[in-house]
Amino acid sequence: MCLIMKSGIIRLSALLIALPLFYYSCTIIDNNVVETGYGLKVQNGMVVSAYPDASIIGVKILQNGGNAVDATAAIHFALAVCNPAAGNLGGGGLLVVRESDGNIAALDYREKAPLVAARDMYLDDKGEVIPGLSTSTHLASGVPGTVAGIAEVHNKYGNLSFKEVIQPGIDLARQGFIVSDKLARSLNKMKDRFIERNSHITAFVKDESWVEGDTIRQPELAETLELIRDYGMDGFYRGRTADLIIKEMERVNGIITHGDLENYKAVWRDPITGSYKGYRIISMPPPSSGGVAIIQLLGMIENYPVSEWGFHSDKSIHLMTEAERRVYADRAEYLGDPDFVKIPVEELMGIDYLAGRMSDFNPDQSGDSRDISAGSIPGYESEETTHFSVVDGDGMAVSVTTTLNGAYGNGIVVEGAGFLLNNEMDDFSVKPGYPNIYGLIGGEANSIQPDKRMLSSMTPTIIEENGELFMIVGSPGGSTIITSVFQTILNVIEFNMDMQTAVSAGRFHHQWLPDQISVESDVFDTLLVQKLEKMGHTIAKRPSIGRVDAIRVLSDGSYEGGADPRGDDTAAGY
Ligand code: DON
Repeated sequence: MCLIMKSGIIRLSALLIALPLFYYSCTIIDNNVVETGYGLKVQNGMVVSAYPDASIIGVKILQNGGNAVDATAAIHFALAVCNPAAGNLGGGGLLVVRESDGNIAALDYREKAPLVAARDMYLDDKGEVIPGLSTSTHLASGVPGTVAGIAEVHNKYGNLSFKEVIQPGIDLARQGFIVSDKLARSLNKMKDRFIERNSHITAFVKDESWVEGDTIRQPELAETLELIRDYGMDGFYRGRTADLIIKEMERVNGIITHGDLENYKAVWRDPITGSYKGYRIISMPPPSSGGVAIIQLLGMIENYPVSEWGFHSDKSIHLMTEAERRVYADRAEYLGDPDFVKIPVEELMGIDYLAGRMSDFNPDQSGDSRDISAGSIPGYESEETTHFSVVDGDGMAVSVTTTLNGAYGNGIVVEGAGFLLNNEMDDFSVKPGYPNIYGLIGGEANSIQPDKRMLSSMTPTIIEENGELFMIVGSPGGSTIITSVFQTILNVIEFNMDMQTAVSAGRFHHQWLPDQISVESDVFDTLLVQKLEKMGHTIAKRPSIGRVDAIRVLSDGSYEGGADPRGDDTAAGY
């Protein structure tokens, strides 16, 4: 059916952010109908991603006989074009896949420290951190993993040819795509940075300001994608593209070498699994902290009556906050790259351990994080990563989070190749106790070593109910990824929200240090703030937390989308 059913922005209550409800529309492409919209429900296949063009490309792949992994590859390449702040070729990602027969796998294509990286590479002679070095320079980039990741997952599971899944991205780069209002504003804000950090004119800068409806064409990026189309991984990690990356590195003291690029490999890892009230949670293992953290959080609150206490009640917020405080403290101490450090994964998720961690939980009084100054968290507005969720008609599901770390990574576009480089090295603990751009601190487990992967918070997750696919969920947001995924899961399982409402609902976040509850503006009313402050909590308002893109399977087998209205995120399906 192709009808515009209902449209409009409805503000439900102070607890929900401005929520577009049930906005459906459809596009007819090559005689196939693709439906898009908030609260979308479809029968055959669905994609929820950060930009409409990418979601529609994914659905077209499904309609043309591709499975969820074919769509994943196509969406990934498309986002590298139309979501330049986070979609990428020059970054990395993590994904979890569940085949229709229930087999699960996790792919780690996280960036790595270059071989000549060193533990103290961002410190001066006095051992102080040199501001900006791990975020804004050529030295900030880890060895990119995205192209290896896409090639690997597609090679293992894809039905269509690699050429078929990459071509829509090439066309989007060559023919251009239409800029949204949000993207125009974001590019305008970054203009000075692009000019300052690049010696050539990039596709992201023009004389006048960008406005909604403009078209961005990226011929250099199209050429790079064509090399990847024709030579696979070698089109990126060897030959012309690799030469251009190295030339870019040599321009300003970068340290990535041809050897780093040639040696990069994506790694299959065993997913983290756990349960919550009968649901099976399948998520990302280290080098992400996300899977361990989400199982810990759910385990810590499982025995409390949160649904009875209610959504955003002082009691449930207090409980979730206290669980978060403990989990983020564990993250800082124990988690890192499992190929370099021994991580007590099972112990951290054990029932007794979690019960012990909550044994000093006081229902009336906030805990007290270590009394150290964790420093400010600069650049909330510059955070950007992207998550997308995909399901096909057979029920194969993929949950993918990919990133350059900060918005537009380090802002450096590889001259001649048209893609941005990541600033993922900042996800290492550059100095024990020194906060990264998300205010996260860490120690030895996440210290810099050559060839090591930096710790991530990305939490691509799939949930089963009674052995069947139930939900695909994940988010960007740096340190807030874990809490955004946690809250979205609880919104559905404990607070009975449909998928769209669960995604749109207001969010809060605590990460141990700084010792405060961050909350989206207007989400907590004055009375609630007073109650939480009386318990000893500090409340800090911030603009937005996370951008969750999720899919739920309904009891009749149809798919229900939740696209985050905080961005241009779009559910598309058929
Ligand atoms: O891997 C991580 O945890 C971070 N690099 C993710 C960054 C991020 O989510 C930025 N987003 N809004």
